[in-house]
Order: sequence, then structure tokens, then C-alpha cells
Amino acid sequence: MYTQALNARDTTAPVAGPEEAARAARFQARIDAEERIEPNDWMPEAYRRTLTRQISQHAHSEIVGMLPEGNWITRAPTLKRKAALLAKVQDEAGHGLYLYSAAETLGTSREELFDQLLAGRAKYSSIFNYPTLTWADIGAIGWLVDGAAIMNQIPLCRCSYGPYARAMIRVCKEESFHQRQGYEIMLTLCRGTPEQKAMAQDALNRWWWPCLMMFGPPDAESQHSDQSAKWKIKRFSNDELRQKFVDATVPQGQYLGLTFPDPDLAYDEAAGHWRYGAIDWEEFKQVLAGNGPCNRQRMKQRRDAHAAGAWVREAAMAHAAKRARRAAAKADALQQAA
Ligand SMILES: [Fe+2]
Ligand SMILES: [Fe+2]
Repeated sequence: MYTQALNARDTTAPVAGPEEAARAARFQARIDAEERIEPNDWMPEAYRRTLTRQISQHAHSEIVGMLPEGNWITRAPTLKRKAALLAKVQDEAGHGLYLYSAAETLGTSREELFDQLLAGRAKYSSIFNYPTLTWADIGAIGWLVDGAAIMNQIPLCRCSYGPYARAMIRVCKEESFHQRQGYEIMLTLCRGTPEQKAMAQDALNRWWWPCLMMFGPPDAESQHSDQSAKWKIKRFSNDELRQKFVDATVPQGQYLGLTFPDPDLAYDEAAGHWRYGAIDWEEFKQVLAGNGPCNRQRMKQRRDAHAAGAWVREAAMAHAAKRARRAAAKADALQQAA
């Protein structure tokens, strides 16, 4: 959703001779027939680049998304809440790992993908550049951010690229759990003291608009959607997904007894949709440009975590090398004995 410029370049890539055109036609025919594309299959370079970018941005979002929530692990109000939050943050790490693995099948190494993130050359979801000021933010993130992620990711379970589609199936199951546990935090706060309910309301006020921005720019400005739709990477447009999210979420907020920070929010009986007010796209652009409330902090935390984890990576590599050496020595010994 943040990649219009790159994508414009992809779609205008020169097409080589008739052989290449025939391959591209066969590839598109497989996609049209709902066949899955697998890592060793031929694919257009633009398809490979688009997916590498999308999957790695998704992976980066999972990993950076651990930071705002990790902020509350030591301050969760009860042991039960702490255990659930720890499990959720670990799930997000797992999502990152599945996704980096899926991206690697397209031919870019995990190290290169990490480098792109840490050097600021890769994007991650704009939402994680907002701060988690109170415990209610943990509820709001689960309810709204994971809820928005589910809307985006359910259609990706049918993405044309096999490894991505398969990763999404498990990810979506875990995201549903995250969404429910977030909603349950909100429900508990809303049934609690007036101060707790006010805290829940404040969290909704701050997270609502950034969550609507998560779906990316309006369709009219989203140049890459056409090609992604043709390749069956993207099954719904940004605006369609945003509308689905609003329609699903507004009744949930009403059940909580909260109000949405949008005076224009109104139910359109004829269309059967909740209509929402104008989104502040200037804010979105600023966050993407690195000027959100927490961009610098997030990148610093991620770089520090990567540097602090260097010994773990080195130890894992040394261990793998030792095992490989031992296995080779054992194979040699067996061969000599035979
Ligand atoms: Fe996730
Ligand atoms: Fe999640």
C-alpha cells in the first residue's frame, strides 16, 4: 500500500521477445485458472518484485508491530493479561518469520530484507508509528489494528503465490484470536469504572483514524491495484477493504457503548454501509515520510534489537555449522566402514 512509485516502474518494464510474451500469457492463464504459483515456477520479474516488496513489508510490519505492544508487557494489569499479551507478541514474531521465509522463496535473502528495513529503505505499516499511551491502547490495537489486519489478510489466503497464501492461513487464525482478546480488554474496561471507560474511549479516539489509513490511499490514487488484482495478489481494493472494516467495526463499538471520533459517521440504509467522514491523508503521508509520532523511536528500537541479537545469530550459525560437520564426519565414517 505504500509502493506506488516502485510499482509504476514494474508495470512499465519492457517486455522481451515473443517467447517471453508467450510465457507471460501462459503465466496469466494459470493465474486466471486460480492455480497457485510456486517458487520454482517461471514468473514475470515484475510479479516477483511486487510480491517480494509486499511480503517483506508485511514481515517488517509484524516485527515492528511487536514494539508498541511490547511496551506494555511489564505493565499489564494482571498475570493473565500479561500471559496473553506475551503470547500475542510472540505470535507476531512468528508471523514475521513465516513471512520472511515466504519472501525468501522469491530469491531475496532474509539478511538483505533486514538490511532494507534497518537502513530505512523498506516500509512497514504506518500504524506502528503511533504510541501506546495507556493499557486501553493494547485493547484498541487488538480490536482495531488486528481487526484491520484480518480484513486485509483473509483475501490473501487466496493469493496466487502459494507460499504467501499458505502462510496467511495460519496468520489469520492467530489474528482472530488477537482481535478477540483485544475486544475483550475493551469490553472489560467499558464495563469497569467511569475512568476505565474513559480510557477505552480515549484509545478509540486516537486509533480510529490511523486504522482507517492502514488500508492505504483511496482507490483513485492507488495506481498499483490494477496489476495486483490481475495477478490475484490483491482481491479487493483499498476502499472496499476499508468499507468492510468500518461496517464490521462500528456495531462492535456501539456494543461497547463507545462513540467513534467521526461526526459524519452514519448508516446508509439504502446501501447497507456505514459512511465515514474524510480521512486526513496529509497525516498519512507525513507518517509514511518518517514524521509520525514514533517513527524514529521504532527504527532505533529495531536497530538496537537487531544489534543486541547478533550473538544469538552467530551462536545459531556456529551450532548449525558444528552439526553439519558432525553429520559429515559420521557419513564419512559409515562410508569407510562399509
Ligand atoms: Fe500478526
Ligand atoms: Fe496480530
